[in-house]
Amino acid sequence: MVLKKSLFEEALLGDTLLKNRVVMAPMTRSRATEDGLPTDMMVEYYSQRSTSGLIITEAVNVSPMGVGYLNTPGIYSTAQIEQWSRITDAVHANGGKIFIQLFHAGRISHPSIIKGNTPVAPSPVRPEGKVLTSDGMKEFITPRKLNIEEIHEIILEFKNAALNAKMVNFDGVEIHAANGYLIDQFLVDKTNKRTDEYGGSVENRCRLLNEIIEEISLEIPIHKIGVRLSPSGVFNDMGDSNPKILFSSLIEELNRKNLAYLHLIEAMTYSNKQPQLVKNVGEFYGPLYRGNRILNGEYNKESAMDAIRTNRCEFISFGRDYISNPDLVYRLKHNEGLNELRMDKFYAGGEEGYVDYPSIEKLDV
Ligand SMILES: Cc1cc2nc3c(=O)[nH]c(=O)nc-3n(C[C@H](O)[C@H](O)[C@H](O)COP(=O)(O)O)c2cc1C
Repeated sequence: MVLKKSLFEEALLGDTLLKNRVVMAPMTRSRATEDGLPTDMMVEYYSQRSTSGLIITEAVNVSPMGVGYLNTPGIYSTAQIEQWSRITDAVHANGGKIFIQLFHAGRISHPSIIKGNTPVAPSPVRPEGKVLTSDGMKEFITPRKLNIEEIHEIILEFKNAALNAKMVNFDGVEIHAANGYLIDQFLVDKTNKRTDEYGGSVENRCRLLNEIIEEISLEIPIHKIGVRLSPSGVFNDMGDSNPKILFSSLIEELNRKNLAYLHLIEAMTYSNKQPQLVKNVGEFYGPLYRGNRILNGEYNKESAMDAIRTNRCEFISFGRDYISNPDLVYRLKHNEGLNELRMDKFYAGGEEGYVDYPSIEKLDV
């Protein structure tokens, strides 16, 4: 008998039982303090969204040098860790599950954000574009190339962050290897020009991610570790000369690890000018992975149900719809309309456009 998977039925993710297959995608909202402390507002925000099967937190800095954006939270200081425990407690008290997204910005930062230091990267390749600092928008600068010893330290920072997350009862961790940040900068050849064991061949460029997974798995079970990739991503001035080979080989390698899941982002800004990029990420890369897959990127109820029904994935994550609809599961299930999204409040810092979106949820979700 073939069991039909439904968006609204419970499902196992590793050893974590989720109450449905609707996942809240990781989203930076810049509501932490200057020191990267999660705030009371954040407790409320995540708590409001705990009817999702799984919440994946916003990107969380693994170290002071990993910070890319103002007012983003970290999980490296005792005070930060304590504040995160209030968030995991609140979500768990509502019967929700929560993974933390572990993040290092690499070159997508600025000295004024990281206490005067030069951002680090696999190679000194300056990104096109600007970043918001406390003195307004500033051009990115040329990053400093990491030496081998520093790379090993960063791997330990990811492990320590995962350990801290385990201490405050996160249900698991997601390694942010997408969207042009440090780990992605190692993966693709536009940003990785190294000639040592962390650059050159596909195997070498994937080494940092593989070593981070390995190191974290010494401390927390591998089936509580997820990985996020954006194989057709161009955000943050990214690109690879042969992404199909790179990401297919990487996924083949990840198949051997028994992770909680692979989280794939669709090609949201697909351009014909980049014919090497895969247009339908879920369709092309999804079948290559033999574990749980979360697909993301401009999905709605119909396309999400279709992706699950046609076996392209087991879970769907929603980003922007979760910003404006704390009760998204209820609204999807009962075909209710969605609140209007206020984009100007994405990173605005206050409660407005953050914890004030109305909920129509009844208790029968
Ligand atoms: C305000 C905002 C912040 C985001 N921050 C993150 C982040 O911290 N980590 C991450 O992996 N993706 C981040 N993303 C990307 C989302 O997780 C998601 O991939 C994107 O919104 C597409 O999904 P959607 O079409 O359902 O919104 C962010 C997106 C938005 C809109």
